[in-house]
Amino acid sequence: MVKRLLIAANWKMNPPPEGSLLPASPYLEHAAVDVIVLPGHLDLERCIAARLITGGQYGHPEPKGAHTGDVSIQMLARLGCRYVLCGHSERRRDHHESSAFVMEQVVAALEANIHPILCVGETLEEREAGKEHEVVKHQLKGLPEHGEITIAYEPVWAIGTGKTATPQQAQAMHAFIRPLLPKDLHAATRILYGGSMNKDNAEALLLRPDIDGGLIGGASLKPEEFAAIVKIAEGITKK
Ligand code: PGA
Repeated sequence: MVKRLLIAANWKMNPPPEGSLLPASPYLEHAAVDVIVLPGHLDLERCIAARLITGGQYGHPEPKGAHTGDVSIQMLARLGCRYVLCGHSERRRDHHESSAFVMEQVVAALEANIHPILCVGETLEEREAGKEHEVVKHQLKGLPEHGEITIAYEPVWAIGTGKTATPQQAQAMHAFIRPLLPKDLHAATRILYGGSMNKDNAEALLLRPDIDGGLIGGASLKPEEFAAIVKIAEGITKK
């Protein structure tokens, strides 16, 4: 089975980059690689209308209810989102999302027929204490046995810092993660790397056997740089 790489643009709390909603957008679906965008909630509809493959950066697991200011995963699905990020480290930090709550999001996404991208990763202190495996294992606890998911390994110390994990460090963690996934999903699940991925380090990372794509923040806001990363991914296939 040939696995297509997935390149996801996480725009965080930023407007869509210039030209991203135009017909020649580099953020559009490509023939040989899956490209998706994760805009702020208020820009979702515009991205979907521009025919980008779109996902939410967060969705509440309950379908509706008294959660002022929140948007549910079911609402995202109804709007036409195909993906949703679950448990990005900035949400875990800013909104105190626990791993159990994040897992509820994964389950809710599968029930709503939208593809969850579960984000995991350790902080610098956790890595320095040698606890990175324990932390990531805990964050993967309770994964549903069936249903298509994607994992994004994003070491917190590499996000937005310009300090990327080395391809060896990333590959080692991805290889640790894969056998922890439910049996049916071992081979087919894509495990993305995220954390200061850019056009200069993307190739070395994406060539590693267990790195199946990238979740890209800063570099995804620069259309030319993002296009360069997509081009690199187009040239790589995974078994
Ligand atoms: P970064 O962000 O590429 O700016 O490090 C990645 C992410 O947080 O998803």
